[in-house]
Amino acid sequence: MGGSDGTSSAHKATNWTPDSWRSKPIQQQPKYENPNELGQALGTIRSYPPLVFVGEVENLRRQLAEAASGRRFVLQGGDCAERFQDCTPEAITSKLKILLQMSVVLSYGARQPVIRIGRIAGQYAKPRSADTETVNGVSMPVFRGDNINAFDPDPQGRRPDPKRLLQSYYAASMTLNYVRAMITGGFADLHHPEHWNLSFVGKSSHRERYEQVVANIRDAVAFMESFGGVREETLGTVDFFTSHEGLLLGFEEAMTRHVSHFGRHYNLGAHMLWIGDRTRALDGAHVEYCRGIANPIGIKWGPSADPQEMVEIIKALDPGNEPGRITIITRFGAGRVEASLPPAIEAVRRAGLNVLWSSDPMHGNVIKTKQDIKTRDFDAILSELRACFQWHRQLGSRLGGVHFELTGEDVTECTGGSEGIGESDLSRNYETFCDPRLNYSQSLEMAFVIANIMQGGSGVD
Ligand code: PEP
Ligand code: CO
Repeated sequence: MGGSDGTSSAHKATNWTPDSWRSKPIQQQPKYENPNELGQALGTIRSYPPLVFVGEVENLRRQLAEAASGRRFVLQGGDCAERFQDCTPEAITSKLKILLQMSVVLSYGARQPVIRIGRIAGQYAKPRSADTETVNGVSMPVFRGDNINAFDPDPQGRRPDPKRLLQSYYAASMTLNYVRAMITGGFADLHHPEHWNLSFVGKSSHRERYEQVVANIRDAVAFMESFGGVREETLGTVDFFTSHEGLLLGFEEAMTRHVSHFGRHYNLGAHMLWIGDRTRALDGAHVEYCRGIANPIGIKWGPSADPQEMVEIIKALDPGNEPGRITIITRFGAGRVEASLPPAIEAVRRAGLNVLWSSDPMHGNVIKTKQDIKTRDFDAILSELRACFQWHRQLGSRLGGVHFELTGEDVTECTGGSEGIGESDLSRNYETFCDPRLNYSQSLEMAFVIANIMQGGSGVD
């Protein structure tokens, strides 16, 4: 295994360089008007320190390998699109809080350690269904993420601006710095769960149950501590990892560093990257880039994917079949799991591939309301998850993780949940720059339901 012996277990890619993706067909990239300005921004980023350390990346890979073999569970979540304006102590704190709280509930339900991976500190670039859009009769480039252009529908602001790449590096590093400070400073300490309280949660129906779970965990640990079985610090610190879609390859190349200790290249802008459903072409630039970095890689698997082609993509990314290297994130849509998931599981099994299976129940369940607002319904999300758990179980496989778009704020973007958000409530606090996210209460409720399913319940809760 990789680690302190100086050998990464990951297989070294042949005929690969950090820029070999440039000779492949590429999708979903902005068209910068001034290549010199772009080159300068990327050069500056290349000279900056990495955001993460290689030992952390290897640690995540080892933990994901344990999840693939059934000994851990993965919670990956955060914004669809991070916004620069949310690089504030309040927004960062509430994201960390909800992920920590969900992980406590999941860990208690699964009776397993949970690997926490944020869609955070770099989740800026977005794939879009068209290059341009028309707003009030004016045609302009679509919004592609805060690191590329401005959200407001203004043709000038929508021009891709390389300075935004620098801004995204700063925002990611400030975000990560604060997350690290909170965690090492004791924010995640289960002895002090009062740190995680959110003012608007006072009325939440989940609060009491959550506090009960925390009390039970503290009680169990206090019991173990009294026998010397668990050290005090066990509750004090947690691992927290970062991830984003590896979409904007010029930026990802600039965050790629050769680590001579391991003789490998790593992307040190995040612990994990994933390849989106729209950019996973076998002969495309995104697969080419990702095959050469040693980080754990997620691959989104949507309903249009051909299982045999997916097998080839996984082999291209992971020729050594290394445990922990590949996380498959299925996102079929609630009604399509039965048609799509069993063939996926069978194809991967037949090829003998060592993967971790996760479910993204968000991206196959986007609907538009009559008022043309993008939303997702809590029950559809839950229904996809429940079907994934069941099919994996039925076929002797295991769902080892979940992937959500969520926020710790009290937004109204997804319908349903025990607060009963209806379509007419959506406009009250609809904040997302891209896809609708579960709000604080819906996220915590989802964690309770998943915990129930993992304990053999129906998920009705
Ligand atoms: C996303 O995760 O935000 C996303 C765009 O997902 P997908 O590639 O699965 O559509
Ligand atoms: Co999204």
